[in-house]
Amino acid sequence: MTGLPDEPITERATAGFTRAYGTRPAGLWAAPGRVNLIGEHTDYNDGFVLPFALPRRTVVAAAPDSGRRWTVWSEQAGEQVSFGRAQAAEPGRVSGWAAYVAGVVWALYEAGFDVPVARLAIASDVPLGAGLSSSAALEAAVLTALLDLGELDVPVADRPGLAQRAENGYAGVPCGIMDQSASIRCRPDHALFLDCRSLEVEQVPFDLGAAGLAVLVIDSHAPHRHVGGEYAARRTACESAATALGVPALRDVGTDQLDAALSRLDDPVVRRRVRHVVTENQRVRQTVELLRAGRLAEIGPLLTASHRSMRDDFEITVPEVDTAVEAALSAGAYGARMTGGGFGGCVLALVDRAAAEPVASAVSKAYAERGFRAPTSFTAAPGPGAQRLG
Ligand code: GLA
Repeated sequence: MTGLPDEPITERATAGFTRAYGTRPAGLWAAPGRVNLIGEHTDYNDGFVLPFALPRRTVVAAAPDSGRRWTVWSEQAGEQVSFGRAQAAEPGRVSGWAAYVAGVVWALYEAGFDVPVARLAIASDVPLGAGLSSSAALEAAVLTALLDLGELDVPVADRPGLAQRAENGYAGVPCGIMDQSASIRCRPDHALFLDCRSLEVEQVPFDLGAAGLAVLVIDSHAPHRHVGGEYAARRTACESAATALGVPALRDVGTDQLDAALSRLDDPVVRRRVRHVVTENQRVRQTVELLRAGRLAEIGPLLTASHRSMRDDFEITVPEVDTAVEAALSAGAYGARMTGGGFGGCVLALVDRAAAEPVASAVSKAYAERGFRAPTSFTAAPGPGAQRLG
């Protein structure tokens, strides 16, 4: 299993700022990546999700700038990018990782805010491209920093929507509201039960340590295959199914109405997509009920059922993640599932704390037998959402 880097990212962001700009930052802000415990591809169907914040995060050191251009240095990218108001006003003008930063500036302007010009330095230990929401962490950290620097009063409940706009409208990624909500609204030792229609949240106790449990996060390192196109295709299929069924969104199909709804759809592929979303919403609610009752280990079968639904009905898994799930289960995990958008990324396994290491080894062994690139694993307990650090 891998540990965290030695030098804290707060120090790396501060040192990066001082190196890039020759002065100390005015403050430090952080926002985490996330794992989604359960509720996949339900957010853009107005449904339910249950993510928690990773103890891995993106840190922004920032200070106001009296000039007219935002300047951003990124440790991970190893480069500095600057852009002015005109580039921030036109989606697509800033590309690559900096599009998420320019996108936040754009979303704030679009919402009518007077955005403070700033210098920023970014360091992160959220793995990139692993389905752990590194982009939402970046958006949330930058958003929180700019709101504070500009003394802009935006309620926490409204912030995820601004970060999501940055991603949808500027970076051009058609994601739902889950990742930004998780990065901004999660709390330590809790999972965030989010109703993606009303945006109401319930902080559901998920104290793994007290229960003697651990969540093992296994990065499958599967090469991402056509992720963007496949995500958009799933979204379109769900939206057209809702239209065909005469409901605003698939959230409005209850499990008791599922058979009747399926009988009205001709395409077997669309039927499977609908079945995943409807049953997944139900699994989220059942998971929340068990967590409210403090029966943490009992959510295992729901996690595994969610994985099988993603594999067989939503068809978004790949051999590497299926292998990790089956190997984790054979090695004694209570439950395991792919987390995030799919086609690679990470698997989470709910295990007894003492079993984390053996389960990780069992997954590595199964990978070696199949000739897959070795996975990396770490344990994660729910950490805090976006905040000012200093
Ligand atoms: C990605 C998207 C989210 C959500 C998940 C699937 O992480 O960014 O909005 O749709 O996939 O649950």
